[in-house]
Amino acid sequence: MSSAQRKDDHVRLAMEQQHAHSGRNQFDEVSFVHHALAGIDRPDVSLATTFAGLTWQAPLYINAMTGGSAKTGVINRDLAIAARETGVAIASGSMHAYFKDPSCADTFRVLREENPDGFVLANVNATASVDNARRAIELIQANALQIHLNTAQETPMPEGDRSFGSWAAQIERIAAAVDVPVIVKEVGNGLSRETILALPNLGVRVADVSGRGGTDFARIENGRRELADYAYLHDWGQSTVACLLDAQDVDIPVLASGGVRTPLDVARALALGARAVGSSGGFLRTLLDGDVFALVAKISAWLDQLAALQTMLGARTPADLTRCDLLIHGELRSFCTDRGID
Ligand code: FNR
Repeated sequence: MSSAQRKDDHVRLAMEQQHAHSGRNQFDEVSFVHHALAGIDRPDVSLATTFAGLTWQAPLYINAMTGGSAKTGVINRDLAIAARETGVAIASGSMHAYFKDPSCADTFRVLREENPDGFVLANVNATASVDNARRAIELIQANALQIHLNTAQETPMPEGDRSFGSWAAQIERIAAAVDVPVIVKEVGNGLSRETILALPNLGVRVADVSGRGGTDFARIENGRRELADYAYLHDWGQSTVACLLDAQDVDIPVLASGGVRTPLDVARALALGARAVGSSGGFLRTLLDGDVFALVAKISAWLDQLAALQTMLGARTPADLTRCDLLIHGELRSFCTDRGID
């Protein structure tokens, strides 16, 4: 199967998942204690967030998705326009397709061409050579590099990687060789506290937990073949909110993605310590069910509503949300007990 076909399959199956999703996930098990006199004035609220020496004007980003086929090049163009129009950061999909077939370069380059002044992240896997990591950054003049970890995606794939043992050493080589900050991310199964704690020693500057609750890649890979051999890997891993609770007080900035559905989920993730919050499948659905104007309207509304929530909750900055009182319910509470989280 060609790489371009695989990219198109991922988009199609991710959209089937979006339409079939119950709409519930573990973000529902986090609520804010309401303090009726906590509110502040809207002009005093800023959405800017700072981490790892970077400042973003908003704590929201379009997370890694695609590129590598004609169709996904058009998607990247529209995502880049939405990022430009709303001022949020945007990540490329895995650039492995470009390393295999440089003729698809334009389907990635469009991310920078449409968004010349924006914050753009390149994306590679943990087996990329140092040279290829550099090529990925150069192609889109990336401001940062994401390296994705996806063992629960590779495992159900007959052609998938079965050699994970060298990943940490390769991440360390790449991080030492590139001159932009390196972010390690999952693809929807979550980063444990133990994984996050290992990252600074590899030269990684930021962790994106990308947890369970939204796009499920084991399910996508099973959906690409007739026999869903690995169906028991569906819903593998930790939810995004569980990861954030697990990562309290780690010595590296943490980003949140995976199953983010609303501006309230963004606020919940920020309150749990995330420095910024990403969405992939949900933003893609808005684009593909509608058009680029629908996505611009959605992201603009999310930013406006996040500022409104900060006003109500008394948080001048996204980081101030960490001072809010939260209630943890249901299975998430059991997760905290089992992991010894206060
Ligand atoms: C992804 N994701 C992803 N991640 C990555 O690091 N490299 C990639 O190439 C891709 N490709 C990709 C394609 C599509 C169609 C989707 C929807 C997602 C994973 C993505 O960045 C994110 O980690 C997960 O999708 C979880 O977030 P959502 O979708 O629940 O918001």
